[in-house]
Amino acid sequence: MAAQRKARHILAVAGGKGGVGKSVFSITLATTLVGMGYRVVLIDLDLGGANLHTYMGILGQTLSLSHFFQKKVKTLDEVVISTRVPELKLISGAHYLPSMSSPGSSLKIKLLRHIKALDADFIVIDLGAGMDLNTMDFFISSDIGFIVTVAEPAAIMNSYRFIKGTLFRKLHGVFKNHAQLAPILVSMAEDSAYSDSLMLNTFIEKVMQIDPSAYPLVNEISAEFRPCLVLNRIGTVESNNLVGSLISHCTTKYNVQLKYLGNLPHVKEISSFLLDIPAFLRSSSGSGFFKSLKSIVRKFLLDIHDTNVVAEKLQLLKVYDDDTIKRIGEIIKDLPEGKLTQTEKKLWQLRLYFKPTEVVAFLLCKGIKDNIFFEQLYTIE
Ligand SMILES: Nc1ncnc2c1ncn2[C@@H]1O[C@H](COP(=O)(O)OP(=O)(O)OP(=O)(O)O)[C@@H](O)[C@H]1O
Ligand SMILES: [Mg+2]
Repeated sequence: MAAQRKARHILAVAGGKGGVGKSVFSITLATTLVGMGYRVVLIDLDLGGANLHTYMGILGQTLSLSHFFQKKVKTLDEVVISTRVPELKLISGAHYLPSMSSPGSSLKIKLLRHIKALDADFIVIDLGAGMDLNTMDFFISSDIGFIVTVAEPAAIMNSYRFIKGTLFRKLHGVFKNHAQLAPILVSMAEDSAYSDSLMLNTFIEKVMQIDPSAYPLVNEISAEFRPCLVLNRIGTVESNNLVGSLISHCTTKYNVQLKYLGNLPHVKEISSFLLDIPAFLRSSSGSGFFKSLKSIVRKFLLDIHDTNVVAEKLQLLKVYDDDTIKRIGEIIKDLPEGKLTQTEKKLWQLRLYFKPTEVVAFLLCKGIKDNIFFEQLYTIE
């Protein structure tokens, strides 16, 4: 059964490398958003290596994701717990069960559906290190993905591999039923483990030989994939060659624009707050970290705000549940060829999952508003 989407923005934090500060960033990001008046749920999806509860000083028996996995509760919101930060809620990954680290596809889909149904302004998902398929899928399913890294060769390389692996995973998700392109994507994703010279262009060349009509879609998928980059444990705002080449390689080789949001300082005193990370933000030693974090938060909020402004001008709905998205997708599919070509239809159907408000605005501009259904989605003539 499709639950209604209530979560307004789903943010995922990943990075490829272990120990770079993903969990510290997730907690401090969530705490800062709460401080700005937003309703936030933090979720520990580092299945197998969960530690948010420890970092938040929640020890002992509590409800956690394991209750959801074991079907001891019906809905995910039953395992949401309170933290020491008023208004910051947590879904803890404590009480690890071996089966949790590799949920099957139907359990994963169910979990995602329940995450979307959580009633919050922001859901912040802390993901584990590495690039197993589940981590990549949770990253792809978020509205905004953060890559946290330190400016060291191994961490930068892991971030790069995570980004290109996730792009191939995303492409595979779209073309999984394409008889010729799907196997090519699988073998390319595997070959990329051995060769860092594998580029999106290699795939595009094959697309142009096999099915050129799929090209706009490939282009759209890579261009729409815009992870935000955060550098952790940096002393000054030095221009770092490694980071510069990560950003330029993503653009030139994969058509992926990384959005660099800024850096967070290395603060050794953080080690005194490992059982209460939110308290670090309020402490005098955390003030520089907090200032940098606020600048990062402001930058990504601006992006979200832009979309809201457009939606407000047209007075369009901003949050769409799964059923509505599906209905709009069907309307696009049934449009006559004269209105949209097959390729355009595929493109707008895909975009529907990233930017439903923009798709609705586009359809209205195309004069596709005779369907009574759209009357629920906009309020001005
Ligand atoms: N800006 C910072 N300054 C100093 N120490 C930091 C900073 N950020 C994180 N750390 C320290 O680095 C360690 C690892 O941080 P964290 O657990 O957030 O990493 P992670 O990427 O989530 O690791 P994992 O991959 O194991 O989940 C912690 O001990 C934390 O205190
Ligand atoms: Mg972590």
